[in-house]
Amino acid sequence: MAGGKKVQGKVERDKKLWGGRFTASTAESVEAFTASIEVDARLYRHDIAGSIAHARMLARRRIISSRQARRIVQGLKSIEREIERGAYPFSSADEDIHMNIERRLIQKIGRVGERLHTARSRNDQVALDLRLYLREELRAIHEALEGLKREIARTAKRHLQVIMPGYTHLQRAQPVLFSHHLLAYAEMLERDSERMRACLERVNVLPLGSGALAGTSFPIDRSYVARQLKFPRISKNSIDAVSDRDFILEFLSAAAILFVHLSRLAEEMVLWSTEEFGFIEIPDRYCTGSSMMPQKKNPDVPELVRGKSGRVFGHLQALLAVMKGLPLAYNRDLQEDKVPLFDTVDTVKGCLTMMRDVVREVKVKKERMRAAAQDGFMNATDLADYLVRRGLSFRSAHALAGKVVRFCLDHGCRIEELSLKELRRFSPRFEKDVHAFLTPEASIRRRRAPGGTSAVNVRRRLKELGV
Ligand code: ARG
Repeated sequence: MAGGKKVQGKVERDKKLWGGRFTASTAESVEAFTASIEVDARLYRHDIAGSIAHARMLARRRIISSRQARRIVQGLKSIEREIERGAYPFSSADEDIHMNIERRLIQKIGRVGERLHTARSRNDQVALDLRLYLREELRAIHEALEGLKREIARTAKRHLQVIMPGYTHLQRAQPVLFSHHLLAYAEMLERDSERMRACLERVNVLPLGSGALAGTSFPIDRSYVARQLKFPRISKNSIDAVSDRDFILEFLSAAAILFVHLSRLAEEMVLWSTEEFGFIEIPDRYCTGSSMMPQKKNPDVPELVRGKSGRVFGHLQALLAVMKGLPLAYNRDLQEDKVPLFDTVDTVKGCLTMMRDVVREVKVKKERMRAAAQDGFMNATDLADYLVRRGLSFRSAHALAGKVVRFCLDHGCRIEELSLKELRRFSPRFEKDVHAFLTPEASIRRRRAPGGTSAVNVRRRLKELGV
């Protein structure tokens, strides 16, 4: 051809790996618009691991020679090192991570690299990469969840006997152990862990071998690839395997629920650290000041955790909207799964770690909590329970205790400040043991039925949680 090598070389470089049927090259604006490399570059390790397993399988089935497979595998490994060193020339002209690596492979080992994509499509390739990625991240998230749960349990154990007011409607309700209140979050996180584990089971399915959508005519060995990549199962329908992203939706849902929990814990930390509550102090290291008001110390970390729940909920909504009504099988819309997925993974891991650190270092002001637990007629239920133990029905006891509260409100005193004589004016069933019955300590100690706030229960649960 006239013009010689140079022009040829340029044409070769500009030519897309899929460019055979095209006569004009892609508009630059379209290249920029469709490229996902900036987002999906993080899949490189998974892409390479999948390609190595695929190449080995192709050789086993004599679809390519063993020598070709060896060169491909070596090439892929050297690309991985190159990326790790930060020396890899990513290019948006190659759209995504899959094309970038394939192009680089061909540059490095020559035309034998072109054999790698036999019996494979980017559609089953990207589905594989996403599953490998999420599988790994789910394990990390599981660890992080356990880390926060453990720190919550340890903090509970350190302050096992600290008494605080328990709330309903954000009104003081009944005294509880601070440790019991904290362990409520351990329970939520345990269920979050279970949800992540259940999600992993459905993530852990090999989609490779589905081709673009219809499967492949080459005599591939999917079970071999599954074993290489440690997938216990392989997908059963090629159309489903390339078009389904419900394993991501499931993860995003589990993450959204987790963030409901994290945001509630964060909110309580914000609330408890106010002057008004004064139950805890968040160490300076986890707070920031105001640029204008010199006295301020703001609980930014829990506030941001609470705030970041917004983006996690949004990511779930975003992917639901992408998937809704999408015709089978693969559509380019699916490329939009990555930002929600990656950002959720990062947000979940980041917030779990920050919350773990704050929980570990939080200062508990037990005198303030104990004092608050003495106020607000929180022993009114105990007063009613006392009368029930003396033979009254609960409804009558409730009414009678209500009258006592009314009386105290009118006289500006607490129930336990009434003398036995005064109490007996409401009912002759009151005996001299009534005052001991009404302390927050006694109230908590009696709540021994499984799941209740007594220290016996809390201690047992802490043991189960391994602290
Ligand atoms: N970057 C694409 C994605 O993330 C890879 C699959 C492309 N497949 C295709 N037919 N264009 O979805």
